[in-house]
Amino acid sequence: MVILEDNKKVIFSGIQPSGDLTLGNYLGAIKNWVKLQDEYECYFCVVDLHAITVKQEPKDLRRRTLELLAIYLAAGIDPEKNTMFIQSHVPAHSEAAWLLTCSTYMGELSRMTQYKVKSQNSAGSIGAGLLIYPVLMASDILLYQSNLVPVGKDQLQHLEIARDIAERFNKTYSDTFVIPEPYIGKAGAKVMDLQEPAKKMSKSGENVNGFILIMDPPEVIRKKVNRAVTDSLGVVKFNDEQLGVRNLMTILMTITGMSIEEIEAKYEGQGYAQFKKDVAEAVVSELEPIQIKIKEYIGKKAYLEEIYKKGAEKANYVANKTLRKMQKKIGFIPR
Ligand code: TYM
Repeated sequence: MVILEDNKKVIFSGIQPSGDLTLGNYLGAIKNWVKLQDEYECYFCVVDLHAITVKQEPKDLRRRTLELLAIYLAAGIDPEKNTMFIQSHVPAHSEAAWLLTCSTYMGELSRMTQYKVKSQNSAGSIGAGLLIYPVLMASDILLYQSNLVPVGKDQLQHLEIARDIAERFNKTYSDTFVIPEPYIGKAGAKVMDLQEPAKKMSKSGENVNGFILIMDPPEVIRKKVNRAVTDSLGVVKFNDEQLGVRNLMTILMTITGMSIEEIEAKYEGQGYAQFKKDVAEAVVSELEPIQIKIKEYIGKKAYLEEIYKKGAEKANYVANKTLRKMQKKIGFIPR
């Protein structure tokens, strides 16, 4: 039986199972989800349909999809309180995406920064999925009548287009969708590359020392933080001139809850050695217990299956309700 809580506001968010997750994904998204799960009715999705906008090895996609679910659980997302599911198990996402594609302009899509970057990087032909991708994301969000979408800063543009598409549909066919708002954490909304701190930390980054993976062993994390690019000023200050230091401070703030002032005061006159050591230890102590749990959950295939099947049941029920509404308003004959 599907139980709906009608007094809580709704959250939807998701991550692509397209590569190993980084500290950026964890601090920018998952850590906030954990905080928000009690207050909202949450849908946390493994967005496998999004992952195939670039070529995926089938066996790797299968493995990563389950690993990502294990990561959600290990990080503290409670399957009793939240709906956790795999996007391709809810066909309404694909179907609503087509209906919304017909309410979206080419110009809007081709202006998206992520499309521009990814299409520049792909040698030869560019998959149409890369262009249409934000419409699928809009469909994810709008099908659940989501109020809030917790994401990192890099997804803001996609959220903006989701709002535009929803407003346009509401205007053309009468009120159908809730207009979603982004939720961006106070700190950690954009964790930067440790080697090139003007660039976002990304699982597709070229230099392995630039990113920390959620599954990196403690000694690797310590080495990467120790090698992180800083500057020759030797002062721990939060400003635009010291991008490397600022990034490490952001990581420390997000994990420990310390303020900028507290961090600046603590390391005054000390250079970078102790500061970097403390950043590394903060990351290790945050990730190590999660890593142990991830390994445990990955081994529990039947438990994971139970969760994603139960999640899909509820997600299908809710998403289909919205999809039927869309179809009716567009003028399709009811089935
Ligand atoms: P994805 O899979 O690239 O990233 C997942 C989440 O991690 C955040 N993130 C970061 N946050 C801070 N610093 C970083 N360096 C960093 N790198 C990644 C992202 O902002 C994101 O929140 N299109 C989305 C997935 C998606 C989605 C949705 C999200 C599909 N449908 C509906 C929300 C709602 C994506 O590619 O995220």
